[in-house]
Amino acid sequence: AAERTSLFIFFGGTGDLAYRKLYPSMYNLYKKGTLREHFGVLGTSREKLTDEQFRDQVRKSLGTTKTDKDAEKFISHFVYEAHDVTDKAHYQVLKTRAEELDKKYELNGNRIFYLSLAPSFFGTVAGFLKTEGLTDTKGFDRVVIEKPFGRDFDSAQQLNDALSKSFDEEQIFRIDHYLGKEMIQNIEAVRFGNTLVESLWNNRYIDNIQVTLSEKLGVEERASYYDNSGALRDMVQNHIMQIVSLLAMEQPVSFTDVDIRAEKVKALRSLRVYNVAEASTNFVRGQYGAGDSQRAYRDEDNVPHDSNNDTFVAGKLLFDNYRWSGTPFYIRTGKMLADKFTRVDVVFKKPLIDIFSFPQNHNAPLEANVLTMYIEPHAGFSLRLNAKTNGQGFQTEPINLDYFVDAKDSKATPEPYERLIHDVMKGDGTNFSSWQEVSYAWRFVDQIRKVWDLQQPQFPNYTPGSMGPASADELIQRDHRQWVYRL
Ligand code: BG6
Repeated sequence: AAERTSLFIFFGGTGDLAYRKLYPSMYNLYKKGTLREHFGVLGTSREKLTDEQFRDQVRKSLGTTKTDKDAEKFISHFVYEAHDVTDKAHYQVLKTRAEELDKKYELNGNRIFYLSLAPSFFGTVAGFLKTEGLTDTKGFDRVVIEKPFGRDFDSAQQLNDALSKSFDEEQIFRIDHYLGKEMIQNIEAVRFGNTLVESLWNNRYIDNIQVTLSEKLGVEERASYYDNSGALRDMVQNHIMQIVSLLAMEQPVSFTDVDIRAEKVKALRSLRVYNVAEASTNFVRGQYGAGDSQRAYRDEDNVPHDSNNDTFVAGKLLFDNYRWSGTPFYIRTGKMLADKFTRVDVVFKKPLIDIFSFPQNHNAPLEANVLTMYIEPHAGFSLRLNAKTNGQGFQTEPINLDYFVDAKDSKATPEPYERLIHDVMKGDGTNFSSWQEVSYAWRFVDQIRKVWDLQQPQFPNYTPGSMGPASADELIQRDHRQWVYRL
């Protein structure tokens, strides 16, 4: 990849995300040559650190030692400035340091402001960046925003209004790390690169689509955030809605961010926003109880003992358009489930007539074709077909055509953050959430939330290691269907 030029200013630069994901991803880009001479990093946060102390932390996060000359060269591009984001005057200090780095590394005034801090500060920081002249350069200015982007439509809109005062939509990169995943990006390749797939990709041939984001871990140390969020806001509003819109959208006019976003937005606009009755029948929630060696969610650290927070969601989504009318999308996600994986199962309709199951033949009924996209941890596809059983007579059985990315390729797969940081440097917004996508997703999710806020749930209602509450199975069985993945 060609070398890219930019200054990075990280707000929340000593945070967990920065050390765990952002700096290691930048280091990968460095090793691959995307970053090399012409980049600089200014880390900021309230913590008081010298440049040397900051570099020690960065080195730790990369897992390198001082004897690694190339890593040391990379780390030498990092400087640090303690900064209170509400202190207007102090932005001048940042500005001076930014200018020094710009000159030293010949960055042409290109700047990426990475906001990895509490959303309540997004507006403040964006405002001061503009009024205090940090965006006043001849190069590009882009701002990267971490989740959560609001907690409902109203708060998201306020946030967006605040950001829009200083940055245009094309300059705002809202992270959804699922969009940086190899196999999520593969959805488009498989759909629009194959006649076999795309010509059947509609309600005439597809019976239903299932999206599962299953997590094995519980809430860990994040209870203070998670208990105010829940699975619906944490996973459905962002990751699941993004996946669903990629599955549901029409073919974009071209493979560019503008055209792809336009189609995703169009898909989301035809997603049926539920009224109270629909929301309560089409969505179910869960919260894990105690398991053999696992505490109940309500007994986790920093979780109130009477918490009604959802650690599991399952739902049915309906698109009111020509392509999808009558073909539901079932989604589910939760913590403390049987395993950690993400998959999409596309269930096709069965042949209209099954000629093999006549009484004398005693053949089992034909199974539906299923195209499974394994997103993580093992990336691959599987297509279930019916074929003849080997031997005398004429029985049929389902067989699978499988393809899995091999170990070597999966090791070489870029981390989501590596890919996304690279995209920001290129100015490519394809794999980020546009404001319109975010806003339609919130409008949908808000309706569910509103209904849930009025009803008292029967929690806890599922055991760790299961695939969620019985109501998640009932939701799909009611429609005479089943989850393709079940225990
Ligand atoms: C994050 C959520 O966005 O995604 C976490 O806040 C969740 O709660 C995580 O665990 C899952 O991401 P991944 O990449 O591990 O599937």
